[in-house]
Amino acid sequence: MISRLSGISFDVTRKAPESIRDLFKGMYEVFVPRELRHALGEIYTPDWLAEHAFDTLAWQPRNELLDPTCGTGTFLLEALKRRLRASGNGISAAEALSGLYGIDLNPLAVLAAKVSVAVFLSRKFDPANAVVLPIYLADAINSATETNDGFFTHELQTEVAVMRFEIPSALARSDRLFPIFDRIRVLVTAGTDATAIMRDLGPDLSGFHFPGDVLTRIQRTIEALIDLHGRGWDGIWCAILADRFAAGAIRRVTHIAGNPPWVKWSHLPPAYAEFIKPLCQSMNVFSEDRYVGGIESDISTVITFKAIMKWLAPSGKLGFFITATVFSNESSQGFRRFEDDDGSPIAAVLGVQDFKALAPFEGVSNHPSLLVVEQGRRTEYPVLYKLWIPGPGTAPGQQFESAEEFRRSCRFKEVLARPVPGTDSGPWLKGTNEQQRVWETLFDASLESHYRARKGITTDLNGVFFVRARAERPGLVRIQNEPEIGRNREIARTELVIEDTHIFPLNTRTRIKCVCCRSGRRV
Ligand SMILES: C[S@@+](CC[C@H](N)C(=O)[O-])C[C@H]1O[C@@H](n2cnc3c(N)ncnc32)[C@H](O)[C@@H]1O
Repeated sequence: MISRLSGISFDVTRKAPESIRDLFKGMYEVFVPRELRHALGEIYTPDWLAEHAFDTLAWQPRNELLDPTCGTGTFLLEALKRRLRASGNGISAAEALSGLYGIDLNPLAVLAAKVSVAVFLSRKFDPANAVVLPIYLADAINSATETNDGFFTHELQTEVAVMRFEIPSALARSDRLFPIFDRIRVLVTAGTDATAIMRDLGPDLSGFHFPGDVLTRIQRTIEALIDLHGRGWDGIWCAILADRFAAGAIRRVTHIAGNPPWVKWSHLPPAYAEFIKPLCQSMNVFSEDRYVGGIESDISTVITFKAIMKWLAPSGKLGFFITATVFSNESSQGFRRFEDDDGSPIAAVLGVQDFKALAPFEGVSNHPSLLVVEQGRRTEYPVLYKLWIPGPGTAPGQQFESAEEFRRSCRFKEVLARPVPGTDSGPWLKGTNEQQRVWETLFDASLESHYRARKGITTDLNGVFFVRARAERPGLVRIQNEPEIGRNREIARTELVIEDTHIFPLNTRTRIKCVCCRSGRRV
């Protein structure tokens, strides 16, 4: 690793901000194994695509931005780039960072994002005015929440138990949060008891004029941290908690953009899934049936809802890269409703852009789309659904220098999307205006059907019907099925002699060549 690092020039003073952009994204992707990154949903957005999302959102340098799953900071760097450009490079680091926030659950990603931002702004820092980089190690789903009595509370799932911490909102939102938690860490690590820690913090806390009962509640949080320390957990929890409170206390912003992890519910660590389940259920994001048609909810839908509900300002815009399967599968019905649990709308879909044909995420085959919503309104269908396709001379998987080059090189087709007629949030049908009109008269999912739907073509029983055949006697063949080739493998292996009029050549896609066809199995 050291020899690889030595090959990289960190002399950023001689580089243009453009070239040091997201410097650590590439390094991060090299050093963290691909399998691990994929398990955590860590598939990073190419710069040109992030740029395109900003253009789509019409983000202006005066706007705010939160990326609640910021990874190595691609979207934050794009915002910084635009602010520096708009100001003619004439703003300080504090001005450039004002109103920009990143959150990520992975400490390595947070570190990489912070270093990338620090490198990017290296010539803008002023030693006399220290700034805290607003990138926090926190969980975008289980974030610290503000209570009606002016506190932020947070429950952490530790290996010991679920532990609850709370601090006054005034402290969570102040610039004393990190220095105070740092002091607590030092004192807890030194074995100081809670009363002595409170005494030590006295001068710092006095400026807040907290009444006695508030101070008692702060002391309880310190006692919980001491308890964790006593069980062999070092002061790491202080740093974690400070970040969690800071992230929870981010005020509502005009824009949210990012690429939340596309991880299926069943792939989450079971204890974590159990821990966040009540939270997710309270958000009304899941469909009534968790497993429908073999497809289940994706965690990106939960993060989308949470981000809108907690951090997006009224009429604010959110642009997320999420899997387009959420617009068509049954298990995302709750998501497509975009409603709070009391039935009030949380956001209106403004449009979706589909990038499947471009395969822009390197090394993964998925169905990426850019979802754009506006906070606080109900969706008016149909919504615009834009399908991007490679243009002349471009190919799937191709990367671009900029969003502009991408838009110049690729083509798109615009169709309209709306839920299956007769439903408020059924799977979306995508087509032209005319097709939508025909579909409306063709079916209405709210009426009782004259027909019973059956499953169409299925591969489940290939192991029964795809057989090997040998001539036995004239007019007869000996056939044997192959249980291992279908999806359903619990099938008996059988050998039978049957009339040859019942079997036919089986021509699968790979066996059909330009001018001939070589059949293998029979059917
Ligand atoms: C697909 S990556 C996107 C990173 C970045 N936005 C980009 O596009 O380059 C998803 C990120 O979400 C983070 N993540 C996963 N679960 C999270 C959670 N519950 N809260 C915050 N971040 C999370 C992962 O660590 C990962 O860095």
